[in-house]
Amino acid sequence: MRIDSAFGEGRITGAALALAGALGAAWAVDARRRGKEARSMHRTLVDLLLNALTADDPSTARHSRRVADLSYALAAVCGMRGREMATLRVAALLHDLGKMDDRFEEMVRSSERLTPAQRREMEDHPHESAHIIGPLEKLHPGIGRIVASHHERWDGTGYPAGLRGEQIPREARIISVADVFDALSQPRSYHDALPVGEVLAKLRESAGTQFDPELVALAGTPSVMERWSAIARDGLRCEKAERAREKAQSDASEARQRA
Ligand SMILES: [Fe+2]
Repeated sequence: MRIDSAFGEGRITGAALALAGALGAAWAVDARRRGKEARSMHRTLVDLLLNALTADDPSTARHSRRVADLSYALAAVCGMRGREMATLRVAALLHDLGKMDDRFEEMVRSSERLTPAQRREMEDHPHESAHIIGPLEKLHPGIGRIVASHHERWDGTGYPAGLRGEQIPREARIISVADVFDALSQPRSYHDALPVGEVLAKLRESAGTQFDPELVALAGTPSVMERWSAIARDGLRCEKAERAREKAQSDASEARQRA
């Protein structure tokens, strides 16, 4: 009996293919697992970076996390997926890190409205944010440009570069709408939180001047508004609890000083 009659070519090829298939499947499962682990590690490191750089100003971290969630919901209805979405999320989380620079500290902490000179100085924070996240450019190509453009306006009157319309990266246009939605729907030291309906009306007033009109229209659709309203509600609960905690801490510290 010739050996190749017992292990005929067809059987050998079949076995080899089956083995290759099994190895390939195992490799794919492992690659998926490693990919998942790498993504999870990346998320953790970005969260860590945000926490570390906003340790003195946790309200900026809370704002940034809401802006990331709001941006994600709006980007999903724009059809963004995969790496584009991952880059958008990281850009939204880290867009205001530049404000943590020492020269902005007093302005960030102030409960007064900024003077025109302070506002002009503050206009440098998108560049500062882009500088801080520079090392992420390898993982998220284009992220620096997105972050640097989050205060550009659709009509070209924004800063720092005066880009207009579609010259502004779409991710930055999304962050811009989400950023203002959060700023108005949450309490700030110089204004109370506005109801979501009023915030949406304000966004619509600025569609075509400050904001991409198509994005404002999408933000007003029921599915996005439902998600955005839930984020605003959770944010209000969280801000209220944080303020109560901060007040209790400062009362306790005053009591200790008096004792
Ligand atoms: Fe900003």
